Amino acid sequence: MKATAQAGANIAFVKYWGALDPELHLPLNNSISLTLDQATTLVTVEFSPHVGEDVGEDVIELEGRRAEGRVRERVVRFLDHLRRLSGTDERARVASQSTFPVATGLASSASLFAGMAVAGLAALGLALEPREVSTIARLGSGSAARSVFGGWVEWVAGGRHEDSYAYPLKPRDWWPVRDIIVIVSQEPKESPSLAGHAAARTSPCFAGRLASTSEHLALARTAIFTRDLEALGTVAEAEALLLHAVSMTTDPPALYWLPATVAVMRQVWAWRREGMPVYFTLDAGPNVHVLTTPEEAPRVATGLCAVDGVQRTIVCQPGGPPVLGDVHLF
Ligand code: DP6
Repeated sequence: MKATAQAGANIAFVKYWGALDPELHLPLNNSISLTLDQATTLVTVEFSPHVGEDVGEDVIELEGRRAEGRVRERVVRFLDHLRRLSGTDERARVASQSTFPVATGLASSASLFAGMAVAGLAALGLALEPREVSTIARLGSGSAARSVFGGWVEWVAGGRHEDSYAYPLKPRDWWPVRDIIVIVSQEPKESPSLAGHAAARTSPCFAGRLASTSEHLALARTAIFTRDLEALGTVAEAEALLLHAVSMTTDPPALYWLPATVAVMRQVWAWRREGMPVYFTLDAGPNVHVLTTPEEAPRVATGLCAVDGVQRTIVCQPGGPPVLGDVHLF
């Protein structure tokens, strides 16, 4: 009744921003991402009649700290979904440990809930098809639907719970792109994604972003199938800027950028003018992802560390699907 899984975070090139149903994490558009190998979360889940005997509730420890408030509620709600699936009412103990700063817009909820889905289902002895695992992971966090697969992944918006799942476009070894995570802040973000998804419609830029997604999806798919970094990078930058144009014009607005965020974006553009194959994208936070080739990655990573305000970089390769392991966190 105890299982541990390791799942990778993912970076979206075509983004999920704005929800059809925020409770079920149903998006308004398909999205496309790459699962990452160096930004992972290890999650142990145990269901047992003895867990929480003294306190009568689930015991949840994320990144070495007892989870509280909204974060705890979200994990408990997810455990309730798993309990409903298997018909148990046993309490659970959950622990997680990530290799990257969490809650800073680096999609830590994706690797956490993908790992929790895989470990939780294994702990309950439930063997489901990957597509079903993806729909279940989505109930924890939308982007977690994509982290159930390795490599290049598309999440189909669907419109109903059972139709909204991710599927692999290409495996991890299809294209050895590098994604360099540029950390400019490790502070938890002020505005969670959930609030951003809910507020998105209040932006005058919202309809424009949504209207461009089908063209962006087609461009991103073709770029991946033809291994065209310029095409993928161009879409990824456009998508990131549109997402932030929406978020900074909502009511209330959310401005995620820090001075170092902008400095990194400008540095990427300066390198491109010199002919280097580098492109940026960002999720809902100040940290930046820089896409480049394996050949350029060492030079780009060194150059990024020299940008004012950059704390460190994590150079990622395409990652695989979540894996079950036998070393548990408790
Ligand atoms: C900007 O998946 O974190 O990273 O469903 O509320 O958990 P919830 O949202 P979340 O949103 C991710 C938003 C994004 C873009 C993306 O990954 O597609």
